[in-house]
Amino acid sequence: MKEKLQAIREEAIRKMEESDALDKLNDIRVAYLGKKGKLTEVMKGMKDVAAEERPKVGQLVNDTRKAIEEKLDEVKRELAEAAREAKMKEEVIDVTLPAKKNNVGHRHPNTIALEDVENIFVGMGYEVVEGPEIEYDYYNFEALNIPANHPAKDEQDTFYINDKIVLRTQTSPVQAREMEKGKLPIRMIAPGRVFRADEVDATHSPSFHQIEGLVVDKNITFADLKGTLAEFAKEMFGEDTKVKFRPHHFPFTEPSAEMDMTCFKCGGKGCRMCKGSGWIEILGCGMVHPKVLKMSGIDPEEYTGFAFGIGLERITLLKYEIDDMRLLYENDTRFLKQF
Ligand code: DAH
Repeated sequence: MKEKLQAIREEAIRKMEESDALDKLNDIRVAYLGKKGKLTEVMKGMKDVAAEERPKVGQLVNDTRKAIEEKLDEVKRELAEAAREAKMKEEVIDVTLPAKKNNVGHRHPNTIALEDVENIFVGMGYEVVEGPEIEYDYYNFEALNIPANHPAKDEQDTFYINDKIVLRTQTSPVQAREMEKGKLPIRMIAPGRVFRADEVDATHSPSFHQIEGLVVDKNITFADLKGTLAEFAKEMFGEDTKVKFRPHHFPFTEPSAEMDMTCFKCGGKGCRMCKGSGWIEILGCGMVHPKVLKMSGIDPEEYTGFAFGIGLERITLLKYEIDDMRLLYENDTRFLKQF
């Protein structure tokens, strides 16, 4: 019996030492300590052992079981440790390798300029609103006092979807949409994309952006218009910027004007930027035509207003001294990266 136990112990330990995986170890445990295991088999023979020998043999069996269990634990720990080390080796990080560079996107120059304009007007208490790019002929023309025979309505200038629907040629229709809501006073700017059937060149594109402005309240005068837009020019192009207003004509404003500002490059002396004149035209504006107020349900006897329209691309090109508008649309990252 003693030899048998000794043999089982040695055999089990040898097998455990040879085993290289945790599941093999489990097989060994079952084969020796399990219900049908070798040690259990031996214990069944206890009944044949002489009574006075039994405690001794029992002790021996226990020792053997203990030795096998201890070895099992030990090998288990070793295998787990080896597995951990192998995994660590596999996952080694070489901190000296050069990092992968992410391509970080950034804002388009038009977006940067628009945000500057928005911040200036929001600072003056204006709300930023939007209108649809696909617009009813009514809002794009009629509600703005642009008569049916006006040249702007010519198919050469306007993209028609059908006789009632166009791609808006200006952001001015947002004026009519806001006034129609009937919530007064109004202080809004409406930036957005507009469309005209133009050929592409350095200063033209079939799609560009405008920023519309509209103020309607009691006692609004041309002085409010001048003060507001002069302040805008200063905040946008520098404290020394001066402005002047030239009479002009727009169907939806009366009187109407175009605003020029002193050239931010030469300060008014005349340079390449301002084509030698010292002045740069930057927007159209005027007092909202009484007919336009009336059509949108506002009483022109009680309320007056002013409006203005800024070409966003024009501002962007000036601000960044870019001389070809096409660069803004080509999405060449070598160009865009510079802003
Ligand atoms: N809608 C005009 C255009 O596209 C620009 C404009 C001029 C807008 C005067 C206005 C304004 O609101 O008062 O040429």
